[in-house]
Amino acid sequence: MARNDKVCVLGMGFIGLTLAATLAEAGNDVLGVDVIPEVVDSLKAKKCYFFEPGLTEAVKKYGGKNLKFSTVISDKTCNYYVICVGTPIDQATAKPRLEYIENAARSILPFLKKGDTIILRSTVPVGTSRNLVARMIETETNLSPGKDIYFGFVPERTVEGNAMYEQKFIPQMVGALNKESAKKIARLFGTFNKQLIHVPDIEHAELCKIIDNTYRDVTFAYANQMAMICEELGLDFNIIRQTCNYKYSRNNIPSASPGVGGACLTKDPYILIDLCNKLNINMELIKSARAINEVTVFNLAKKVLHRLTALGKNICASKIFIMGFAFKGDPETSDMRFSTTIDLVNYLKPFCSNLFGYDAVVDTKQIEAIGVKYCLIEEGFKGADVVLIMNSHESHMDLNIKKLAARANDSLIFIDCWNLYDKNKIAKYKNIIYSSVGIY
Ligand SMILES: NC(=O)c1ccc[n+]([C@@H]2O[C@H](COP(=O)([O-])OP(=O)(O)OC[C@H]3O[C@@H](n4cnc5c(N)ncnc54)[C@H](O)[C@@H]3O)[C@@H](O)[C@H]2O)c1
Repeated sequence: MARNDKVCVLGMGFIGLTLAATLAEAGNDVLGVDVIPEVVDSLKAKKCYFFEPGLTEAVKKYGGKNLKFSTVISDKTCNYYVICVGTPIDQATAKPRLEYIENAARSILPFLKKGDTIILRSTVPVGTSRNLVARMIETETNLSPGKDIYFGFVPERTVEGNAMYEQKFIPQMVGALNKESAKKIARLFGTFNKQLIHVPDIEHAELCKIIDNTYRDVTFAYANQMAMICEELGLDFNIIRQTCNYKYSRNNIPSASPGVGGACLTKDPYILIDLCNKLNINMELIKSARAINEVTVFNLAKKVLHRLTALGKNICASKIFIMGFAFKGDPETSDMRFSTTIDLVNYLKPFCSNLFGYDAVVDTKQIEAIGVKYCLIEEGFKGADVVLIMNSHESHMDLNIKKLAARANDSLIFIDCWNLYDKNKIAKYKNIIYSSVGIY
């Protein structure tokens, strides 16, 4: 990285901010831009508005020095631009929305000069970088990508909760418009990561990212479907999974889960489905996987109601205590976007007015905003009829369930969705009925 290089990262969300902080930590001069003034104000005050280990420390250390924040690009001093804005799915059409990419790219144009580099990092449909952004530069400026402008796509693959580490230590896939662009991208990303994988072109990198996430969604759906079968047969999916995987390296069947949430796995398969539709390719596997992962949490909610009814309890008056509102527990995150716990709550709310919840990381106001009363774990078990563990956060582990359940109502339904507890041990305690995803 040359001394006079300056990087503009567009989008100070989960991805852009961790990248900006990592770039600053590596000694780069960084400008983080976001269109939301509150986001920029909080970062200028060195406060992160979401939890990510190591991020606040980095913003405090480099903020105001080689890491600055703004709502706009205001001069031509940057020579690298990295686009990290959101690419959500339209909830009505299930098609990817690219207007954030388009707006971010357009905001760069007035400042773009010969020799600058543009890199897309958001997850996008195949062809977006070339056909939307590169074409916009070609048609709306007098600069030509590949000739005057270096250009490429480097997908983000870090896991929320360990992003600051993974930025540096998981391989970065680099898809570039030409060799010179690849060199420019390597110069920037090489300042913090030594493992760059150069793929033949931009489209390979774009598709790598979508295939990556869809693969995970499909394997999780397999586990969740097998868990449904086990529940019907009265078998234990966790035992079956562990037995199949044991010392048998050809298998790596994942755990079942209360559905698959989060901003990425709930969206990226739809980008692939949209592509398959355009190519007229049958994509039943991907579609079915998504459908299974979406329905799993509703099956769980139905189980709660069925089990309460079978016990002769009044559903409306029953106390349901839910642990885990972030879309995942390990590594921990405060991100509640598309968390399946929200679906669970929305399903149960019309039937039950006694919903209580706890999360070690999520802001309590966010939990209360979805109609759940926040409380700590001990309080949650008190007088509970159902306790659900929705994610595998470490604060849900190693609890004294026997002691806690002694405060609950008779026949406490304890739904341990991540098999954090030994069901045989729990079964010995008085008044507890153990259940999981894959164990009815
Ligand atoms: N969150 C993850 O773990 C993850 C992982 C891999 C890939 N991705 C991908 O990275 C992209 C970003 O994800 P995210 O979770 O960080 O999104 P996000 O919604 O948290 O953040 C996007 C930010 O971009 C800002 N923004 C929108 N338009 C802008 C513009 N024109 N200029 C400047 N800022 C603008 C928004 O205000 C927002 O703060 C998505 O494509 C996502 O699929 C996310």
